Amino acid sequence: MPERESSGRTADLWARVALPAASPVPPAEPVVAPGLRLALSLLEEGALTSGAGRSSGSSAARAVPSAGAVYPYEFAVLALENGVPAAFKVDADRRACTRLAAGEVVAEALRATGLAVPEDGGAVVITLTRPWLSMRKYGDRGYLYTQLDAGHAAGNLALAAAGRGATGALRLRFAREPLSGLLQAGENCREIHSAALVPAGAADDSWTRWTVHDGTDREQTGPTWRSWLESTCWDSLAGWPEHSGAPAPGAAPAPLAQIRTDHRLPGEEAGLGDASDWPKLIGTRVSSKAFTGEPVSAAAVWRAVSALATPLGTDLPDASPLSATLVLRSTTDPEQDAVYRLGTGERQPGRLPTTDEVARACMQQRALAGAAAVLLLHVPRTSLAGPGAAEDAENLRELAFRCGALGQLLYLGANRAEVGVTGIGGFDTPLWRTLAGLPEDDEILYALLLGSPDDSGIKFDRLATAHAQNER
Ligand SMILES: Cc1cc2nc3c(=O)[nH]c(=O)nc-3n(C[C@H](O)[C@H](O)[C@H](O)COP(=O)(O)O)c2cc1C
Repeated sequence: MPERESSGRTADLWARVALPAASPVPPAEPVVAPGLRLALSLLEEGALTSGAGRSSGSSAARAVPSAGAVYPYEFAVLALENGVPAAFKVDADRRACTRLAAGEVVAEALRATGLAVPEDGGAVVITLTRPWLSMRKYGDRGYLYTQLDAGHAAGNLALAAAGRGATGALRLRFAREPLSGLLQAGENCREIHSAALVPAGAADDSWTRWTVHDGTDREQTGPTWRSWLESTCWDSLAGWPEHSGAPAPGAAPAPLAQIRTDHRLPGEEAGLGDASDWPKLIGTRVSSKAFTGEPVSAAAVWRAVSALATPLGTDLPDASPLSATLVLRSTTDPEQDAVYRLGTGERQPGRLPTTDEVARACMQQRALAGAAAVLLLHVPRTSLAGPGAAEDAENLRELAFRCGALGQLLYLGANRAEVGVTGIGGFDTPLWRTLAGLPEDDEILYALLLGSPDDSGIKFDRLATAHAQNER
């Protein structure tokens, strides 16, 4: 190859790996909007921080779990600032907000979306998913994890608001396009997930750690980061059906799936207890790294599971195609060990899975095979919106939201009942179908394990290699 040509190719290759100049950062302003202060303090409590005291280096613990500790979502806030509606993008790592737009353009987007900023200093908190962050580790399955993770976060924001005595509401069924344009979401490979309406209330002082930067002049802020890998990943999502049913706003808060555990516990033990205790439960929840295999008390498992019936205010219909099945396999009350359909409370005959079978059904996550109980969340295949779908079908976002929020309730219930818990995305659906006697055409969306925790080792799920998804 002639020398000049080869040095040209080297220059092209070098251009691929070179970095463009850093964008300028507009000066820091204090957070003045009461709605933004409130939203930031709610985000700190409901999603971003944890009081569990495990923060170290870059992997600071959060109030919610996430597959691989990836947290593939971010937030935006709509609030009045000096009487003018404004939209802010939230950078959780830097504790900085960028004002993206203010004035009539925000008011118009809100009108078109059918959402309104609650009066007297309330806010709308938008959760936006960024699927690439999970898909770059987990491939296509990362899209399911993205939705489950966002369900944990959005559900927990509603619980944190309720813990403060606020009756907020979570919306999943609204016109997304106007907001997507306003928040520059689609063009940056983000999807609008949900909107939490946060009524005015007192904010603690956690917002004082935050700054605001003006980004309304896009010329000034420079181009946003983009990679062909993320664009390719984004384009691959075009096939997922968006269809959803009519919203049911204003309905009374309701459980996200039908759960019957009432006959197993005295009333005062069931559920999540007084809402004023929820902030503490949220701040101290953790995922178990391993289970010792010691049996746990069946009553403790039922206490944890009864949290699933906690009502949440959303715009989804009360009736859901989602079912929950509990495999209670190793408790100190062996006569209670069995498979239970939680929709009816019915106990199913049949043998229980061995530890080896649990390991295999959890994709050889051997450290977790000593789980005392397994919760499976599953739907008939036809419940996923698309051609030939059932009447009550919901899209993946809605079904996974129910699963993620239920998962979060189980984490908090387990924390209250002092039982170890971890969500798992690495599971073998056909094998669990057999082990738990699920209907042939049911798909499992999410599984959670409960047991006696052993937190001495490492959490395998946080490693770069996706071991539990067969990556070798
Ligand atoms: C959707 C989802 C899937 C998960 N899958 C697994 C899994 O297969 N194995 C595992 O050990 N942990 C799993 N986890 C737990 C995460 O590893 C854990 O949340 C993360 O490491 C952060 O730790 P923390 O929850 O203690 O803050 C999962 C969590 C979620 C929300």
